[in-house]
Amino acid sequence: MSSVHLVDHPLVQHKMTLLRRREASTKSFRQLVNEIATLVAYEVLRDMPLHDVEIETPLEPMTGRMIDGKKLVFVSILRAGTGILDGMLDVVPSARVGHIGLYRDPKTLVAVEYYFKMPGDLHERDVVIVDPMLATGNSAVAAVDRLKECGPKSIKFVCLLTCPEGIAAMGEAHPDVPIYTAAVDRQLDEHGYILPGLGDAGDRIFGTK
Ligand code: URA
Repeated sequence: MSSVHLVDHPLVQHKMTLLRRREASTKSFRQLVNEIATLVAYEVLRDMPLHDVEIETPLEPMTGRMIDGKKLVFVSILRAGTGILDGMLDVVPSARVGHIGLYRDPKTLVAVEYYFKMPGDLHERDVVIVDPMLATGNSAVAAVDRLKECGPKSIKFVCLLTCPEGIAAMGEAHPDVPIYTAAVDRQLDEHGYILPGLGDAGDRIFGTK
């Protein structure tokens, strides 16, 4: 079973409720995804390694501690992952970025890959895969399958919303990959949508429906 980290800070819950509402405009939906991603990033990156840096304050020298953002790679599952990516980059602007293009075949719900572009030296980097919805788990499992071929130091999976089916699918295929989410909903419907959910995240982020 994967470990599931539920980021249920009151600010995150508040913004998730605004996000789910049918009447949220494209502009506010996009902005909320961005803000929630930033808040979730604090929890996801809690165990990031730090190194010592000698600095001088206006009063005296001291040893500060800093992260090495370049060792981190955010991997966005296109296209909805882009919304989360922007919020994460707000807090770690030096992180590298990879993209995986996957679409869900509407009939079979199977993930089909059409694009894969990663930074070099992945074996020296920690990867955080981002996709707003962990629903059937097909895209998430396919993305992790593909990334493991590149041998990164570690992999985490970040979403805004998931459900028992998605958690089970990831846990079966990749029990070593922790899942970070802002909510765990009741179930999937027959079309692979999360209930009560928030609808199609990609369409709502980009205003395509
Ligand atoms: N993808 C979405 O955008 N929404 C869901 O509910 C499930 C998968």
